[in-house]
Amino acid sequence: MLRHVTAIRYVTPLREGGSLPGLMEADDLGTYVVKFHGAGQGRKVLVAEIVSGELARGLGLPVPELVTVELDPALGASEPDQEVQELLRASPGLNLGMDFLPGALDLDPTAFAVGPDLAGRVLWFDALVANVDRSWRNTNMLFWHGAPYLIDHGATLTFQHAWSAAPGWVRRPYDAADHVLLGSTPDLDAADDALAPQVTAPLLQKAVDAVPDRWLVDEPGFDGPSDVRAAFVEQLLARRDAREAWCRVCGRPPLRARTGRANRRPPADRSRRTGSRTGRAGHDGPPRLRVRPAAGGAADRAR
Ligand SMILES: Nc1ncnc2c1ncn2[C@@H]1O[C@H](COP(=O)(O)OP(=O)(O)OP(=O)(O)O)[C@@H](O)[C@H]1O
Ligand SMILES: [Mg+2]
Repeated sequence: MLRHVTAIRYVTPLREGGSLPGLMEADDLGTYVVKFHGAGQGRKVLVAEIVSGELARGLGLPVPELVTVELDPALGASEPDQEVQELLRASPGLNLGMDFLPGALDLDPTAFAVGPDLAGRVLWFDALVANVDRSWRNTNMLFWHGAPYLIDHGATLTFQHAWSAAPGWVRRPYDAADHVLLGSTPDLDAADDALAPQVTAPLLQKAVDAVPDRWLVDEPGFDGPSDVRAAFVEQLLARRDAREAWCRVCGRPPLRARTGRANRRPPADRSRRTGSRTGRAGHDGPPRLRVRPAAGGAADRAR
């Protein structure tokens, strides 16, 4: 289970986030970025945050601590923004918090060089959980005290939104064309060698065990939280075993990203938003295309 804290103060909304996360102080004197179960995206996004976040942590990737946060909506009573008040009113009880990294910057790989090893691991992990939300538009990586951190895994594991179609998700190719680290010469072969053997049933079970029962309890078609957890584990083990389908660059032909053409950054649109407060783009979308390896160095992207 995650550590549990009780919120004692709503500090400020984080308006960069599509789900309108709130910065909150808790009874352990910590400060957390809190995502609310009453947000338009619903609690499955929080389930994805936990399963993918804890899986990433288990694979040695840097993720700030996740906690469950008990919320009394009365804490929002003096908040001037009606949208915030409504969100808190809709979110009594358990919510999800991430340790706030004060002063962290959104990571820009043109300013902070991410090496091929870490880039490969992050990209491989994102392909495993089908994370559509780590693009150069919205990097969902923070740079803090000289080190990178991964945040925001709510757009992963979309099979849970339509379990009947979950078998099709297992082999769905990952579209890495917009991935923020594609230009960092990701070493996917090394990442596959290092990470695939670590994606084991016990590691996955540990990640799904971190999800509170309350968020799994009434999933239609399942016989309670343990049954849902078992389905997550089975689904991710199956995806691990189907790597040649979703991560062609992990096998042969060899990784074209190492020698490929320049990474063409789409023109003009620099807006960060990929989702909205009522729903994320990317969920349950059409099957993605295969990885389109394309690489460009910092110089390419700085143009
Ligand atoms: N742990 C953290 N420490 C410091 N800043 C954070 C942290 N988590 C999030 N932020 C800041 O808040 C922003 C929004 O967070 P996050 O991306 O998790 O929210 P979201 O609602 O899922 O956003 P979106 O779906 O729009 O990407 C981040 O881009 C980052 O600037
Ligand atoms: Mg985000």
